[in-house]
Amino acid sequence: MRYDFVCPSPTHYPFQWFWDSAFHAIALLQVDPELSKQELRCLVQGAQPDGYIAHMLLWERRGNPEWLKPEACIRLDHPFFTGTIQPPVIARALERIYDATGDLGFVREILPPVLRFVHWLERVRDADRDGLVTIIQPDESGLDASPKYDAAMGIPSHPPEATLPAWRRSMHRLFDAYAGKSHEEQATLGVFAFEDVMMNVIYADALRALARLVGLAGMPGADDLERASDRTHDALMQKSWDPKRGLFWDLSGSREERVTVLTFTSLFPLVLPDLDADVAKRLVDEHLLNEREFWLPYPVPSVAASEASFDPAWLTKTTWRGPTWINVNWYLYWGLRQHGFADVASELARRTVAMQAIGGIREFYDPRTAAGEGATNFAWSCLVLDLIAAEEPTLTRA
Ligand code: GLC
Repeated sequence: MRYDFVCPSPTHYPFQWFWDSAFHAIALLQVDPELSKQELRCLVQGAQPDGYIAHMLLWERRGNPEWLKPEACIRLDHPFFTGTIQPPVIARALERIYDATGDLGFVREILPPVLRFVHWLERVRDADRDGLVTIIQPDESGLDASPKYDAAMGIPSHPPEATLPAWRRSMHRLFDAYAGKSHEEQATLGVFAFEDVMMNVIYADALRALARLVGLAGMPGADDLERASDRTHDALMQKSWDPKRGLFWDLSGSREERVTVLTFTSLFPLVLPDLDADVAKRLVDEHLLNEREFWLPYPVPSVAASEASFDPAWLTKTTWRGPTWINVNWYLYWGLRQHGFADVASELARRTVAMQAIGGIREFYDPRTAAGEGATNFAWSCLVLDLIAAEEPTLTRA
């Protein structure tokens, strides 16, 4: 096969990752839309006949043997792809490429594998048919070692050095449980099952984007996709919304127990266009703009500053435990704008750009100082290009 894509980080992440490539495609619109198309074309070469698309495609696998060692913690389905999924950001990327180029031919080319993937999610990962899809290992949300998964993974929050080895051991226990089982069987084992709010918001957003694109492409099924999106939105309101705290919580296990560890995920339904205005206002006023939780000098931290597990300086040497990530800010920026919080969105964009000016193009940043952390030359951090383009009139005036 021919391949041509952007590595998340040439030094740290040499393969093609599913949600990374979707973010890359959006950032590349500010460079050359043809590169955006190429990124998605390369990605969907990984689509399998049953609809499944893996979270990693191991192009150039032979040159990167360290990724096949146990400490890399990846579970393969095939020599060249993993047995793990990631959030379907690809639908939003396809919508953005259409909005930028008007190229319906490209939409028609990429829609079929993306539709098959969301149908796969619905068929295989919504076993209880409640409209919420389930992840079966923590890195399927893309939020690998987020402390919201600690209890389910048996990870102690102290001392910080214990986190990464405990996470690796726990991942391998999951891999042993899934070994030799089909995707369908893995999904019903219940060894780890999270109806993750961020994953489901991105799923609902994908269904909405696909409904629109299917309609534009003159293909059938737009109404069903729209209904499925609404259903996921309603399920999030019914099961994850906590009116007392004014937040959304992930649901763990078959008993759907709320996991009340405060991470940016709890605010993520701001991305839903039809979110109730009072709910959106509470998320923003009580939490996003709360300086004890999320409104730090360089927001939005992946974990609220009020949590004991908050690790802004990356002492745990593992991901999603406090630092600020630019893909999160990018999603929340557009969510804030659509709910009438344009000023908050602009301030978030301003601080995000300032953070990158200080910290460089890194994987994540210390929310107190903007120091760059993790991988270098991290590609989705170039989503700042999209924020700058959206804010251009304001920036130019300033
Ligand atoms: C890290 C991130 C994950 C991302 C991958 C490649 O594992 O946690 O979300 O997809 O790196 O950048």
